[in-house]
Amino acid sequence: MIRLEWDDQTFSVGHPDLDSQHKKLRDVIIDFATHLNIDYCESQVHARLLGFIELSKEHMMCEEQLMKTHDYPDSEAHHKIHKAHFIKLLSLVSDDEKYEQKDVEHIIDYLAQWWLSHIQNEDMKYKPFLKKKD
Ligand SMILES: [Fe+2]
Ligand SMILES: [Fe+2]
Repeated sequence: MIRLEWDDQTFSVGHPDLDSQHKKLRDVIIDFATHLNIDYCESQVHARLLGFIELSKEHMMCEEQLMKTHDYPDSEAHHKIHKAHFIKLLSLVSDDEKYEQKDVEHIIDYLAQWWLSHIQNEDMKYKPFLKKKD
């Protein structure tokens, strides 16, 4: 898995709640990957994935609310990116709760890659707007 090391300069969007949510999501991905290597268990994979999706949903709603409050002009485009990600997350959930280990490795890679690139390429765009009103 790609390394997800937090440093403020690269990842902080300048809002304490959003930063802590981003850190939490990162922690869950790392925890997910660590457990996969130590004790792979399908039912835990399912539960972890559902937990991650719930956390992601809460975070995206909070982020979108703050964008609106701070009159971020591209909030609609950002919402569409979140929505596509959310649909992708739901598509990763297996109906019969069966998960091949190699597929879970791909899921974790996707989550890690998305975390890294979404914060740096998309979330960073609202950073100056969140700063203005604080
Ligand atoms: Fe976002
Ligand atoms: Fe975010």
